[in-house]
Amino acid sequence: IKNRIKEKDEKEKAFTNAFKGRQEYSIVFNPEDYSTKTMNANGEDVTFRAYEHLVYVKKPYDPESQMLSIYIPEAYLKGGTVNGFTAETAPIFMPNGVGGYMPGTIAEPQEDSRYGGANAALYALSNGYVVVSPAIRGRSLKHKNGYETGKAPALIVDYKAAVRFVRFNRKAGRIPAGDTEKIIASGTSAGGALSALLGATGNAKDYDPYLKEVGAAKERDDIFASMAYCPITNLENADMAYEWMFHNANEYYNAGPARRISPASSNAAPESNVQNRPTNAPVEAAKGTAITPEQKEISAELKENFTDYLNKLNLRDSLGNRLNLAPDGYGLFREYIESLYLESAQNAIDTGEDISKTPWITVSEGTAVHMDFDKYVATVKRLKGVPAFDAFDMTTGENNEFGTYDIPNKHFSRYALEHSQLVTVPKLEEEKEIAQEKARQYSLALPVEKRQLQKANLVEQMERDKIDLSQYMANWQIIKMMNPMYYIGNPDVQTAPNWRIRHGSLDRDTALAIPAILALKLKNKGKAVDFKVAWGYGHAGDYDLPELFAWTDRICK
Ligand code: DHB
Repeated sequence: IKNRIKEKDEKEKAFTNAFKGRQEYSIVFNPEDYSTKTMNANGEDVTFRAYEHLVYVKKPYDPESQMLSIYIPEAYLKGGTVNGFTAETAPIFMPNGVGGYMPGTIAEPQEDSRYGGANAALYALSNGYVVVSPAIRGRSLKHKNGYETGKAPALIVDYKAAVRFVRFNRKAGRIPAGDTEKIIASGTSAGGALSALLGATGNAKDYDPYLKEVGAAKERDDIFASMAYCPITNLENADMAYEWMFHNANEYYNAGPARRISPASSNAAPESNVQNRPTNAPVEAAKGTAITPEQKEISAELKENFTDYLNKLNLRDSLGNRLNLAPDGYGLFREYIESLYLESAQNAIDTGEDISKTPWITVSEGTAVHMDFDKYVATVKRLKGVPAFDAFDMTTGENNEFGTYDIPNKHFSRYALEHSQLVTVPKLEEEKEIAQEKARQYSLALPVEKRQLQKANLVEQMERDKIDLSQYMANWQIIKMMNPMYYIGNPDVQTAPNWRIRHGSLDRDTALAIPAILALKLKNKGKAVDFKVAWGYGHAGDYDLPELFAWTDRICK
């Protein structure tokens, strides 16, 4: 065991050493280095300055993924106004291009987006917003020296570092426009989760060591507003929420086992070494895969566990009613979820849509009066397998996100760890001994007065994690740093005051309960939250740019 500990320590040292001599960059913005561009935003020409590909940390692990571009409406450089904003008052829109917890590329302004017309960055520019688009590290990044460099919490460290870069350089007058007190983040799916995480965790101390390690500017990283489309968030609790919603489905429609999809080989046979498989977000299959009786049992247990989790959150509706669930999964929280779908259906009716072919909504005289959960599941179908996120064979994108510099995939929920196909009991016992020995050594290396305290903390943490299972299980602190729920409204954290959250009515990448819980917690902590189910949309974002920017105008003006 002592040898194993030594091995582990040496591995960590080797990792640190491998990056010691990495190239350093200046994070002092150069106002002279730009190009001027004109693009057509929905029929209107927009001229803007583009400052592109600026590395935003002094010591990047992956410079390509840790650079950003800044776009500024040219009118501001000539003392003009756009949409009532000036160089001083223009809000800063910061979209991220993250999807599937993969590396995110810079979201450049584009004339022809997926939904037709200008994309969010160009739309923002045409409405007088300064746009800052950071590239962000993601789970598949591997340095040529073999080490993984984009695992959790890299993505949130980078987004924060980008915010700090902007504040640092704008406050010094080097960036020529933008109000750093009006920073608005936006993203979709994993990028929506990231936007929410940035919004929730302003200036939280937990991230400081990581920000220091990459050489982020010493600045605040709190923001004014967060836009989250279909956030794949609250990951360690998302399996329970998924089963609460989709337990009754008898098949799932992910093309292939969970996230084990690489675009090149979607039907690849399971490889023996799942640890090295590149993985992406799930892909829809034409044909369902049956859920086995064993999976049904797992599903039932996770569903039941959701009730406990939910009730402990103590969430309340706008009237102050506790949104709880009974052990059978029924209760006010379920009624609240139904009401979100109903409101969405009503909105569709009110805007002239014919929703009469929607079997899970009952309409009576122009009013959506009933939402049928079972019919919903039967109609939209279950996308993901059991469990949806923390797979027992560690093959989801989320398992891959929670890997470390040396181990690509890990569990991040106790339930999956306990059911893991990859952790055997003898290994558990061995890890336990190693952990205890390490704790003893660690404690002895500290000055006497600190020993008791440190030891207590360490043991407490091991107890919370059950044991030190660092090879199989993500570190608790990192799981925490990936989840906005632990930070919202904490006294030593500046959570963004403004939120807009959207989840498509046909989205099954995560259960609606997940964004709903996020929205409720934010509201209960006094934040302004615009949360809605978007009728007719699946897992998507940026489909309502006029409404998005009407909202940003409203909160900024
Ligand atoms: C994304 C989708 C998922 O279903 C998931 O589990 C993680 C990320 C995405 O589209 O970003």
